[in-house]
Amino acid sequence: MSEHSEVYWQDYAISRRDRAALLDQEPLVLWFTGLSGAGKTTLANGLAKRLYDCGYATYVLDGDNLRHGLNRDLDFSVKARHENVRRMAEVVGLMYDAGLITLAACISPFKAERDFARSLAPAGRFVEVFVDTPLALCEERDNKGLYRRARAGEISDFTGIDSPFERPEEPEIAINTSGRSPGQCVDTILDYLIARRLISPAGTEAHGAARRQA
Ligand code: ADX
Repeated sequence: MSEHSEVYWQDYAISRRDRAALLDQEPLVLWFTGLSGAGKTTLANGLAKRLYDCGYATYVLDGDNLRHGLNRDLDFSVKARHENVRRMAEVVGLMYDAGLITLAACISPFKAERDFARSLAPAGRFVEVFVDTPLALCEERDNKGLYRRARAGEISDFTGIDSPFERPEEPEIAINTSGRSPGQCVDTILDYLIARRLISPAGTEAHGAARRQA
């Protein structure tokens, strides 16, 4: 809703339903939240690959990547993170409207923004995936060396160190990645989606191969 009373909502002839029908799928949002280094990108990447292989049209929005473009003007202050996640949520909403299965991977440390993202999708079409990897393990992995720099005081406002992370209270899926391979974690998510009929079990890899050749 615009804050400006002189801006009107414009309607278009082709609806979300039409676009989704053309893609032969129901759009869906998978929102990955968790600490830096928890494995959000790895799991979103693995899941997107499996969904693609099964013939689904997907798109992955990654917090790190968006900060190179759309969100390049934002730092890691609380205010800027609110804006970062708000923009991410709005783009996810547009992708939903386009008919895609969208995977968003960003720390999204605050419940209010995650709830806002949820509010943009119809009830039941938003799956919050809490990648619940303990801070100690994220810090041990430290694949970008950022935890070491945060501990050394070279980076401030680092999530889990000197900036808060509000744990999701009722995520649809919570995955502790310690001791489990990325493939096992992706299987857990896929099993959930199929069990809840959020994606069709008919979307098999053979079906996907046939669609890509058509
Ligand atoms: S969010 O908090 O605003 O949702 P986002 O997911 O976009 O964060 O970006 C997090 C990524 O930025 C991390 O994976 C990490 O690589 C990098 N980063 C750089 N500085 C920080 C910081 N102070 N806190 C967290 N992540 C940071």
